[in-house]
Amino acid sequence: MSSSLRRRDPADQRTDVIAQFYDRHPYPPPANLDAAAPRSALERRAAHHLLWPARPVPETHRVLVAGCGTSQAVRHALLDPTAEVVGIDVSARSLEHSRRLVARHGVTNLELRRLPIEDVAALGARFDHIVCTGVLHHLADPAAGLQALRGVLAPGGAVTLMVYAPYGRAGVYLLQDYCRRLGVSTETADIADLVATLREIPPGHPISPLLRGTRDFADDDALADALLNPRDRAYSVPQLLELLEGAGLRMRRWARQAPYLPDCGSISETPHGRRIAELPAVEQHAALELFRGTMLRHTVLAAAADDPGAEQPDPTDPELAAARPIPSPTALAVQEKDRLPPGIAAALLNRAHTETDLVLFVDAAELALFRRIDGERTIAALGPGAPAFVRRLLRHDLVVLDASECAGMAP
Ligand SMILES: C[S@@+](CC[C@H](N)C(=O)[O-])C[C@H]1O[C@@H](n2cnc3c(N)ncnc32)[C@H](O)[C@@H]1O
Repeated sequence: MSSSLRRRDPADQRTDVIAQFYDRHPYPPPANLDAAAPRSALERRAAHHLLWPARPVPETHRVLVAGCGTSQAVRHALLDPTAEVVGIDVSARSLEHSRRLVARHGVTNLELRRLPIEDVAALGARFDHIVCTGVLHHLADPAAGLQALRGVLAPGGAVTLMVYAPYGRAGVYLLQDYCRRLGVSTETADIADLVATLREIPPGHPISPLLRGTRDFADDDALADALLNPRDRAYSVPQLLELLEGAGLRMRRWARQAPYLPDCGSISETPHGRRIAELPAVEQHAALELFRGTMLRHTVLAAAADDPGAEQPDPTDPELAAARPIPSPTALAVQEKDRLPPGIAAALLNRAHTETDLVLFVDAAELALFRRIDGERTIAALGPGAPAFVRRLLRHDLVVLDASECAGMAP
């Protein structure tokens, strides 16, 4: 731990502007988790192998949800009853709501603590999976926060990190500045006036598509979270990778990678698709963020920089013949004939993508192959065309690869 972290009093973060803000506007806006049920065995395998393609699913593992807000840690505990989950947050009110959910759902595999991320070492534990989404960009020193999290990552562990992205949020930053200049507070009357004023925002304003179409503006607390947050910053792809590197971490992959790849979506049909594909991977991702212009956040899956098991498997590698593709739980085959081009049997898409161009058109033989993917059949058993097709499916986030029985893959 750095000396600056040692010197700081943990109470600083608990009384910080951010803790006060989230005590007033807990996030996500408190709701129940009645719809959350444990994942099926196949869903659990998909979630596990997204993080660890080559590691067998363990009996149990330790999960830290850092900055868990009102419900995220409880959701993790409910989805995976085999996990031992710890949730930390600086907002007492958010934790109170989480505790109510624990009681309501009879959750027994979760421990909640009021603790700043910067002082996570005080838990005296290491975690196989650290989840930190929508939090780090609010810290006074995000790099120190991420270093603290790296310090409690177990050997071979994985980090799921979500931070804001700058270009898609340009409208948010215009409005944050606007609200600051007017001195708009988080008092109920001020928020009501802001909501009324936003109804008249010009249709071409960069905030307009967000006001209409995202959950970030679904209610007053969410609106306050986006526009009146006392501290938030955003990371472009290169800035995020630098942040990871500074903390001794490295990217494994994006949680959903298709939006960052030049062979997926509309960019693949342009003269620049091939040109971008010739760049190093990181440059491809940076270019796609600029081309798309609408990304609101980046969710990256990372591992320790020196973790030998952090390589992404390539289904066309003969060593992967024994790998078993698992359909992504949110993958869908749309077969509305009158809406498909001639010769196309289905449009494969992942419902979790927000980008509507990320569709993989397949012919009848490919659709039949897709339907045979069940998490059990290996790439070899799927037949000679399978390696290249599974690679395309993987890149489009339509399958996850279980390579735990492939010799030569580091776990
Ligand atoms: C936007 S909410 C995200 C909540 C949750 N991660 C989710 O995705 O649903 C941000 C949360 O981070 C917490 N937070 C902010 N700074 C923190 C810190 N230094 N240590 C721990 N939690 C923090 C806030 O109190 C708030 O509950």
